[in-house]
Amino acid sequence: MKQIKFSNPKKGEPSFCEMEGFISKEKATILLNDLIDFNNKILLKDSIISDKGTRLNIFNGDKNYSKLLKFSDEWSNLDKLLFDGQFFKNVFENNIEVFKSKGIKTVEYKYDKYHSDYFKFSTEFIHRLQKKIMRVFKLKYIKSLFSVFIPQRMVVYPIINIATSKTGYNVPIHTDNRYKIFVGLIYLNTLEQSAGGKTLLFKSSKKQDEKKYMRTPDGETEVIKEVSPIAGNSLIFINSNDSYHAASLLKNEIKRYFIYFSFGVKRYESIWKTSYKVIDGSI
Ligand SMILES: [Fe+2]
Repeated sequence: MKQIKFSNPKKGEPSFCEMEGFISKEKATILLNDLIDFNNKILLKDSIISDKGTRLNIFNGDKNYSKLLKFSDEWSNLDKLLFDGQFFKNVFENNIEVFKSKGIKTVEYKYDKYHSDYFKFSTEFIHRLQKKIMRVFKLKYIKSLFSVFIPQRMVVYPIINIATSKTGYNVPIHTDNRYKIFVGLIYLNTLEQSAGGKTLLFKSSKKQDEKKYMRTPDGETEVIKEVSPIAGNSLIFINSNDSYHAASLLKNEIKRYFIYFSFGVKRYESIWKTSYKVIDGSI
């Protein structure tokens, strides 16, 4: 695989890497066909729908994901390629100075490929109950007060969300949850320019300490990169406090199939230094 090198870090904007042919066209086609086949034949009825009904998600940790890996060799191969630990090591270690300058709290890590953050988003009864209990006892808040005692070394785990979005899908400018280190998108189908569904990267006009950027930009923004989905291409960016991005409105009667992947950190509410308190990877 080609080396991933993030763009030079600048204040108020994401550091990213665009990869043409991250996976070959042939492989992207097989992944797409297997996914469509899977969605039609096997996908469980209670799958997670988000973004006001415009996005269907298959997460790792979800029963659908393990079923998909059994159903398709190509998906199983991709899971190995992204998540065996080597990919994370290459990307992280080759760009360590960029991560540091973007304000990562530590660079010492251990990799745990079997952990997932599925329960955070799951609607399954047991997970709903777990979240309710946490809310009642305000466990997240109490935990965050003790965060200074959390061991230094981060435990990194993989996150994947295989998404099918439809007309009306759009995501306003944001950054992802703070417990994520970097984020990748792999497009499985090519969209015409007029269809929308582009990934947009922004710079904030506000130049300040990295620690001060919030999850939505404060003040003016300007588009610095527009990425139209092309099958097999990928966009990867560091999930720093200022990695502002959005998805433009998907207009035509067409579906946008893409893979969202990331690497999260156990026990940390935020792996990025902030000048404010972060609860639940948010704010
Ligand atoms: Fe995002």
